[in-house]
Amino acid sequence: MSVSREVRVVFLGPPGAGKGTQARLLDERFGARAISTGDLLRRHRRERTVLGLEAQSYMEAGKLVPDALVLAMMEGEIATSPSFVLDGFPRTQGQARALDGILERLGRPLDAVVLFELPRARLLERLLGRWTNPRSGRVYHEKFAPPQVAGLDDDDGLPLEQRSDDRAEAIERRLAEYDAITAELIPYYEARGLLRRIDAALGVDEVSAELFALVERDERSPTR
Ligand code: AP5
Repeated sequence: MSVSREVRVVFLGPPGAGKGTQARLLDERFGARAISTGDLLRRHRRERTVLGLEAQSYMEAGKLVPDALVLAMMEGEIATSPSFVLDGFPRTQGQARALDGILERLGRPLDAVVLFELPRARLLERLLGRWTNPRSGRVYHEKFAPPQVAGLDDDDGLPLEQRSDDRAEAIERRLAEYDAITAELIPYYEARGLLRRIDAALGVDEVSAELFALVERDERSPTR
């Protein structure tokens, strides 16, 4: 069932926590556009734009792409989407402050920042078993969310691929970047009263039930 209302949510959490999976479900349920910086950057790389070529080496190594590149890409995306879920943005304090400024200018405050929490040991299993449709960005998992026909997307039948940064070395670097830089946003949003924690170790349907309830609760909140 789809519910139509403005929703503005940020997803925060380590690589493999299930942010992309849940962003799509939230989009289906509330019509909140799922905007994934990772998917947008990968599209730029595929289309070999200047931005994509500049971002490539950072992404391959599992490092964060510089703020200036990410912000140049995101400003227009946010301005044209009154209802959204931001998957993978912001990831630095600079990006978070820039997002505050953009939303203030637009007069569209955030409803919530959802932190996906799960034990580190589970992340590796999720990332190493992930298969992705390179065009739509839809993700599968060989054990937890397999496609109907092995190796092919359920919707368009395209062959699924493994991401080039889902290698042990790049995963380690992505986790280290998360711990050293992105995790600083937890106290940043906690101090603003926006942080909501969810148990991301549960199954996909249980996580989305928790998430939908949380979004509906925030929607009714008189402080919004
Ligand atoms: P990005 O594409 O954002 O990658 P990420 O943050 O590392 O997150 P992932 O996509 O790996 O994981 P996810 O949490 O979305 O999990 P998913 O739903 O796929 O970023 C890639 C790179 O781009 C970065 O390293 C950086 O270089 C650059 N970049 C992006 N944004 C940037 C920014 N703002 N600033 C600077 N640089 C930026 O799930 C994972 C797997 O688990 C799947 O197989 C899925 O099927 C399965 N799964 C999901 N949920 C469950 C569940 N509940 N139970 C069991 N399995 C599950």
